[in-house]
Amino acid sequence: MKSSKDSIGPGYLRSFGRRQSKKLSPARERLMDTLLPKIAVKINTPIRDQFPSNIRELWLEIGFGGGEHLSTQASQNPDIGIVGCEPFIDGVAKLLAQVDGANLQNVRIHGDDARQTFSCIGEGDLDRVFVLFPDPWRKSRHHKRRFIQTQVLDQFSKMLKDGGEFRFASDHMDYVRWTLAHVMRHPDFEWLAESPDDWRVPPEDWVRTRYEEKALGKGDACVYLRFRRKVRV
Ligand SMILES: C[S@@+](CC[C@H](N)C(=O)[O-])C[C@H]1O[C@@H](n2cnc3c(N)ncnc32)[C@H](O)[C@@H]1O
Repeated sequence: MKSSKDSIGPGYLRSFGRRQSKKLSPARERLMDTLLPKIAVKINTPIRDQFPSNIRELWLEIGFGGGEHLSTQASQNPDIGIVGCEPFIDGVAKLLAQVDGANLQNVRIHGDDARQTFSCIGEGDLDRVFVLFPDPWRKSRHHKRRFIQTQVLDQFSKMLKDGGEFRFASDHMDYVRWTLAHVMRHPDFEWLAESPDDWRVPPEDWVRTRYEEKALGKGDACVYLRFRRKVRV
């Protein structure tokens, strides 16, 4: 039998690796104790009610790593509420330091599995979902742990508004093909690509992530996929 740590519900397997790599500094421990409770996602409260009313759009970033992409997006888009999910404690603490340093008011954090937040996100609440450089789970026997699965796309389809965007990026070509195959099979999404540059070159408003920097630094190619949630009929 699977432990509760390994599975968060029917069909959901653990999709992340370690939860912590080193002891947090006293300053980051303090932020975990003081700032996190103020901006943590409350999974029993509708997500819209957890942001100020002047927020124009809601975005969700799944697996924000060290939070560099999320905090840059949040400071460039103060009228957009961004929900970030990341089970890796060091990453959560790092993002808290950035939120604190830049006094960002438009960030909410779930320091655990993103799938736990889906129940508080209503139909059509989201304008964008980002899954950037997700853990590739390379071995075929581990593919079932990949975050992108049909039931997750069903949830994205529910949470995204008509015309909302799901953005995926990776340097792992098998995961790129996997994601394309899953999304193209899904009736509610269309791939926004007309020419190779549409997946080889990031969109204009792109903010580089840490894993992307690492991949590009090694000379590896990265692929950028944008999918639109079709209009509901
Ligand atoms: C390879 S890292 C990429 C981090 C960051 N997006 C970047 O590009 O630098 C993938 C991250 O996804 C997180 N992750 C994996 N499964 C997740 C899940 N179910 N919910 C939220 N985050 C998850 C992992 O903890 C890890 O930090």
